[in-house]
Amino acid sequence: MQTFSSQRSRADEPALWLGTSWKMTKTIGEALAYVEQLLTVDIPSGMQVFVLPAHTALFAVANALPQDSPVLLGAQDAHWARDGAATGEVSMRMVRDAGASIVELGHSERRAAFGETDERIAWKVRAAVDSGLLPLVCVGESHEIRVAGGARDFVASQVAAALSGLNPTEVARAMVAYEPVWAIGEHGRAATLPEVTPVLDSIHEVASALSSTGRLRAVLYGGSVDADNISELVTADGVDGVFVGRAAWDAAGMRRLIEIAAQARRLPGT
Ligand code: PGA
Repeated sequence: MQTFSSQRSRADEPALWLGTSWKMTKTIGEALAYVEQLLTVDIPSGMQVFVLPAHTALFAVANALPQDSPVLLGAQDAHWARDGAATGEVSMRMVRDAGASIVELGHSERRAAFGETDERIAWKVRAAVDSGLLPLVCVGESHEIRVAGGARDFVASQVAAALSGLNPTEVARAMVAYEPVWAIGEHGRAATLPEVTPVLDSIHEVASALSSTGRLRAVLYGGSVDADNISELVTADGVDGVFVGRAAWDAAGMRRLIEIAAQARRLPGT
């Protein structure tokens, strides 16, 4: 199994992040078959790939990844408490123990369907950092907020709330994924760059006020990312990478995205 330090050495400052959440799509066997194929892909140095299986597959995937793997492993959520009576939940310590080094927090599906509030997400971000996990905070406005012209302010306030329990050095190590709710999933519509970049700017403005370095570890974009739009997204100002759902749910799709993104960014070896 990978250790955190072996994973972290590659994740320090990659030029480009490319990650996928498999959401609720894979059994352990399916997750292992995916990883076996992914490990045959030539991932260029400068690109940090990560996968977020369901909790049930974390330990098996962690064991399938070699020590020096270019693929980081993460969980899709975890509870803020260290332990206790929280039936059905898993803690940060538990996902860390199962091999995760990243934890996704505040995805819009969880905000909409599982009672995630900005306050809870801030607790989770704090707990993630305390457990040595790299928090990946998802933020994004609804269609209604977008139409009303409030996307920048809404997303900035989500970011500020999520990071409110961290000190400036910890903020500098956190990651944020901007994922407009209206752009996610099978009913989503791919966003255009003019729709995305002002909101990314607002995230960077929050980071410059809160972070010891003036920036976050990475700001990713997510929502209907696919082989057609990934080049434009990974070369856009203010985008350190992309966070993908459906287009990366099979390993062939992920391979294609890795290849296209690497070429678009002209990473070494491509
Ligand atoms: P999608 O999902 O790529 O399938 O739109 C993105 C996400 O939910 O992160």
